[in-house]
Amino acid sequence: MDRAYAPYSHFKVGAAVRGRNGKVYGGCNVENAAYPQGCCAEASAISAMVLDGEQVIDEVCIVGAGEALVTPCGGCRQRIREFAGDEIVVHICGPEGLRKSFTLGELLPASFGPQNLGN
Ligand code: THU
Repeated sequence: MDRAYAPYSHFKVGAAVRGRNGKVYGGCNVENAAYPQGCCAEASAISAMVLDGEQVIDEVCIVGAGEALVTPCGGCRQRIREFAGDEIVVHICGPEGLRKSFTLGELLPASFGPQNLGN
């Protein structure tokens, strides 16, 4: 989270995904002057995992400040879903530690995923 590049929103987010291989991959949000080109923390963590050769997510952790829970945006729920099933747990943290945990199925019910395409 501390390494996030967020000069426009000033809202720094960190994410970590644990792959089936046991390794933890980190990411942070990286914003852009052309706003829509910014990248969420979850997306960069997933990219790091895939680059390393892992394609299964077993657990996710997201950290951000502010009073409200920093739950993943809709697009990132779908990004996580590409590599994880409904049962995996997504932990939402603040700077002080764990705030709440959800299953991916709670965050993205009745989801569309790779299985819909026969993958
Ligand atoms: N952001 C994330 O990186 N992950 C989330 O789950 C929510 C939002 C980022 C995107 C943008 O850089 C900033 O937080 C404000 O929306």
